[in-house]
Amino acid sequence: MLYNIVTYGCQMNVHESEKIAGILEKMGYTASEKREDADIIVFNTCAIREGAEDRAFGNIGALKQTKRENKNKLIVVCGCMTQQKKVADYIYKTFPFVDIIIGTHDLEKLEGLIKKRLEEKKRIVSELKDNYDIIENLPIHRTSGDNAWVNIMYGCNNFCTYCIVPYVRGREQSRKKQDILNEIKNIVQSGKYKTITLLGQNVNSYGSEDKTQGTFSELLNDICKIDGDFKLTFMTSHPKDLTDDVIEAIKNNDKIIKEIHLPVQSGSNRILKLMNRKYTREHYLDIVRKLKENIPNIRITTDIIVGFPTENEDDFKDTCNLVKEVKYDGIFAFMYSKRSGTVAEKMEGQVDDKIKNERVNYLLNLEKEIKAQKETK
Ligand code: SAH
Ligand code: SF4
Ligand code: F3S
Repeated sequence: MLYNIVTYGCQMNVHESEKIAGILEKMGYTASEKREDADIIVFNTCAIREGAEDRAFGNIGALKQTKRENKNKLIVVCGCMTQQKKVADYIYKTFPFVDIIIGTHDLEKLEGLIKKRLEEKKRIVSELKDNYDIIENLPIHRTSGDNAWVNIMYGCNNFCTYCIVPYVRGREQSRKKQDILNEIKNIVQSGKYKTITLLGQNVNSYGSEDKTQGTFSELLNDICKIDGDFKLTFMTSHPKDLTDDVIEAIKNNDKIIKEIHLPVQSGSNRILKLMNRKYTREHYLDIVRKLKENIPNIRITTDIIVGFPTENEDDFKDTCNLVKEVKYDGIFAFMYSKRSGTVAEKMEGQVDDKIKNERVNYLLNLEKEIKAQKETK
């Protein structure tokens, strides 16, 4: 029996697909490179931008014929798209050959649902939950080479006005520190991994809802005390919560890679406010200054959204000037995409796609120029 998993979206989803793979392997399935050969195909979806959703719809739709040829094939759709009731209903109606639809909080049910579907003829849409419990010790089949992902927290409380994540991933919950340390000890002891990457939508707020677990910087320091030859990194940091003790921890621990992904989203204070990012351009630049002063040659990368509602030429210039000042080592520039149910969806002043496109290209060129400048130094 073969399985094939198609993953969209962020590292969180890549890691969750490793857990899905673990569950399927435990059930006796083995991985298949070819989607068409698989007895079970899982789409682990992302809802962050319209483009991600369209790609998933297209690829799910393309399986109609495969399923017609082999009715016993199981097709599962999970992840952030299906966590929205409207989208789950749409998939159920539009793709009658999809067998199981489950949300983001239901991985532990997957095995039972697959067995149920194999025994009964009825398609399954798992009931969506907003609340969730952290499930420890799910089986896992790691597939990311010598990098091991480790979740330290789930969900997001920030409600940036453009973003769907808080609606599909629920409120922040941190894993127990001891569970994280045990997982990392096992990873290190296995001898198979060089790098450990801690994951969370906002790793800096680790432990903020459960103070007994300590802070993010304490977690970093404790992980670095684990014996063994490994490097540690983490994502994503929210600038509003990146405190001095975290900078100290990066500086003081040889095991921590000297790099940080610090999404700025915009360099305009007006837009940052509309985005509900809770920091100013000045505050952001101050953190960058501290990072560079304390950690020589630190690599800084970022995410930027262009064409947020009402973003004008002056706002965009602010972003470009900030980019030039920070001299990023990498920029992920995205065109703003309207997400259903978010605050920005209803904002006046939506920006033309043509302008968004021009601004993304401008940033990509700027990134190249900065890279060229750094290389000639
Ligand atoms: N938790 C992380 C980001 C998760 S989403 C953080 O706060 O940094 C990854 C990136 O997708 C974001 O940083 C943002 O730049 C982008 N993004 C999120 N929603 C978007 C939208 N509606 N349109 C375009 N880009 C978006
Ligand atoms: Fe989205 Fe903001 Fe949460 Fe990141 S911090 S996941 S951008 S709401
Ligand atoms: Fe996408 Fe969900 Fe990650 S919306 S970016 S897969 S948290």
